[in-house]
Amino acid sequence: MSDANNVGMGDSMPSWQVVGARVGAAPGGSGPHPFPDPGADPEPPADRPIERAAWQLRMQARSCAIMGSPLYGELLARAADDCAAGGPTWRIVADHVAPGRGDALALRLMAAVHRLVLEGGAPDLAPHYPSVGGTAPLDGAWDAFASTLSSNVPRLSRYVQRPCQTNEVGRSAALMMGFLEVAARTGLPLRLLEVGASAGLNLRCDHFRIGGDGVAVGDPTSPVDLSSHWKVAPPSVAEGITVVARRGCDRAPVDATTPQGRLALTASVWADQRERLERLRGALELAGRHPAPVDAASLDAWTAQQLAEPPSERAATVVYHSVVIEYVPDDVRRRFVTTLGDAGARATADRPLAWVRLEPVSALRHHGVQMTLWPGGDTLTLARCGAHGTDVEWLGGS
Ligand SMILES: C[S@@+](CC[C@H](N)C(=O)[O-])C[C@H]1O[C@@H](n2cnc3c(N)ncnc32)[C@H](O)[C@@H]1O
Repeated sequence: MSDANNVGMGDSMPSWQVVGARVGAAPGGSGPHPFPDPGADPEPPADRPIERAAWQLRMQARSCAIMGSPLYGELLARAADDCAAGGPTWRIVADHVAPGRGDALALRLMAAVHRLVLEGGAPDLAPHYPSVGGTAPLDGAWDAFASTLSSNVPRLSRYVQRPCQTNEVGRSAALMMGFLEVAARTGLPLRLLEVGASAGLNLRCDHFRIGGDGVAVGDPTSPVDLSSHWKVAPPSVAEGITVVARRGCDRAPVDATTPQGRLALTASVWADQRERLERLRGALELAGRHPAPVDAASLDAWTAQQLAEPPSERAATVVYHSVVIEYVPDDVRRRFVTTLGDAGARATADRPLAWVRLEPVSALRHHGVQMTLWPGGDTLTLARCGAHGTDVEWLGGS
């Protein structure tokens, strides 16, 4: 994993190293914060797939424990041991082991089991899952989890194939710092273009209540309340933002207005994280009221198409993403960055282009929000934050 990251002022053509990809975050949008030392527990080689899968589960167990999910921390740690011993965990994930973070294998396993619980197919485990009203203690959770795995190997193997489809609404609190900064610097309304948008829930961020540190923006009556997410507020909150257009893309979009889409989104949230489940519930409610199309497309081709023409009205175009980089192959990333740089070179003061991203930033050893703004193409690190958009600290654009 590369640890190169040359974040700085004046990068007119930022690279993916500037974004801070592949710096030791755990998969599935759930990077540990702060990042662990990747050298402490090196990844086993490809010719030892059982050990490799167990390693992926163990890494994610640590992240979940750090990030406030004792249930998933415990279950994944025990599943890692079970996998290493060739138990039912291994039988479920055996066909899906991939290098590095394994395309979020551990989170796909947990989402598969959570889906089964939500469908009513795991009556022994449900009492341990707060997402379905469970209140049973952690003691005994592994035994119920293990017997659920054993009895459902074919079904769970099928479910594990589903891509990681977390759509974390809390990330809007961090992204909003970027949007506010674009609005303050340009004085223009925003045209939001989100890549890797999943269900596009964060395309409705202007309908959320967002704030902390004594200030807030957005609708005070919103069902999505992120008003305690900012630890250090940005200076530019007075005007808020005006969104004149919103659209997204994803390689596998989720339709938040269908029962199947809602099930997929809920299954991806860690079952003992009630606040996340609550903000998802609020965002699903808003999704029905405020349409935001998400096209099925790869982000490189889609961005090129969207940026081919400047917006017809005066507006700042904001291409943005959160926790997407780790899923994108190098050639796709390169095309995406080249497209942004080319479109940036054509940007004007009344049709500016911004690239806002919430991704791991190795210089921070944390997730953070960075912004590149054209004309000019300066890259600024605006904020530090947790991978789910909590504890957002304004850094002042250093
Ligand atoms: C961890 S999810 C994050 C979703 C959303 N950005 C959020 O923060 O909630 C990563 C998303 O990236 C999407 N993705 C991965 N590769 C992609 C590509 N080449 N083009 C478009 N979307 C992609 C996945 O389908 C998935 O929905």
